[in-house]
Amino acid sequence: VSNMLVDSFGRIHTYLRISLTERCNLRCQYCMPAEGVELTPSPLVMSQSEIIRVANLFVSSGVNKIRLTGGEPSIRKDIEEICSQLSNLKGLKTLAMTTNGLALTRKLPKLKDCGLNSLNISLDTLVPAKFEFMTRRKGHERVMESIYRAVDLGYNPVKVNCVVMRGFNDDEICEFVELTKDKPINVRFIEFMPFDGNVWNVKKLVSYAEMLDIVGKRFTGLQRIKDHPTETAKNFTIDGHQGTVSFITSMTNHFCSGCNRLRLLADGNLKVCLFGPSEVSLRDPIRNGADDNELRQIISAAVKRKKASHAGMFDIAKTPNRPMIHIGG
Ligand code: GTP
Ligand code: 5AD
Ligand code: SF4
Repeated sequence: VSNMLVDSFGRIHTYLRISLTERCNLRCQYCMPAEGVELTPSPLVMSQSEIIRVANLFVSSGVNKIRLTGGEPSIRKDIEEICSQLSNLKGLKTLAMTTNGLALTRKLPKLKDCGLNSLNISLDTLVPAKFEFMTRRKGHERVMESIYRAVDLGYNPVKVNCVVMRGFNDDEICEFVELTKDKPINVRFIEFMPFDGNVWNVKKLVSYAEMLDIVGKRFTGLQRIKDHPTETAKNFTIDGHQGTVSFITSMTNHFCSGCNRLRLLADGNLKVCLFGPSEVSLRDPIRNGADDNELRQIISAAVKRKKASHAGMFDIAKTPNRPMIHIGG
């Protein structure tokens, strides 16, 4: 590919995260404020054909992995059609989804047939009452069912994303690790990150070092696997476990130097970093009749504006951003 998406630090962007909707069937406290968030009016949300057009441009510029996010991507009505069309793009190797798993069990076989080949399911507690508290909804059992259904369908590994928050679920870390004993599950402990409206505070942050210590004391043979420089996760095997355990350390040990990620939001904005306010609309030029070359120029100029790093213990008050539910992680 001659027109790769390279930024001014030489990072090549081969991974596009597409947020399909700002809506969600849960109300997680660490993702959105209790009062909810303003939703982009439906006519201004990217349509299926606009998404496919943009995705096609990215894939022809070297993107080989697309992850569908939200809100909750699985509640978008045309999700199957979107998956089919994306998985047919020539050059795309991985079509992934990050989902809360709540309404997934029944949809999974069809999504798999439509080309979805990688699945990350969010789950922050193994205690139903705590699930209800954190998500402000019921449904713990349905999420567990989705995880096991995904394993049965052959997703390997099924990644389970667990955002660790002190005083909420830091006492469950070892029980989460047990999920990896007999199944090809990759449990990923994520450092709690600050976003607009999610009442982050440093006391709730459980660091990578602390989590590693907790797991290392209880399980033997914890061993780091060499990972790819673009990975968000630091991965480990454990003696006798079929699955693996990972840590996503955006706060205490960020991985921006290997970043290969760009984001297309549901409202059609291209967001070049998870943090910070740098965004540009692709929807508006599309609706004003821009041709592919004009769109390519807008995209490559945005990529060139990407900063070296935003993550780490930055000052959230000085780094305006959106609520997580708009970004999709
Ligand atoms: P894989 O492709 O399976 O490795 O997943 P992923 O980690 O790229 O995506 P996922 O949606 O599962 O996100 C897991 C966690 O990583 C979430 O908390 C995301 O917010 C965080 N994350 C994903 N991409 C980035 C990134 O570019 N920067 C930072 N700081 N965190 C990220
Ligand atoms: N900090 C870290 N991870 C978060 N996620 C949502 N909000 C936060 C946060 N504040 C996770 C979700 C999902 C992924 C997209 O991001 O749990 O797994
Ligand atoms: Fe990439 Fe920004 Fe995430 Fe750093 S914080 S890894 S630069 S998206």
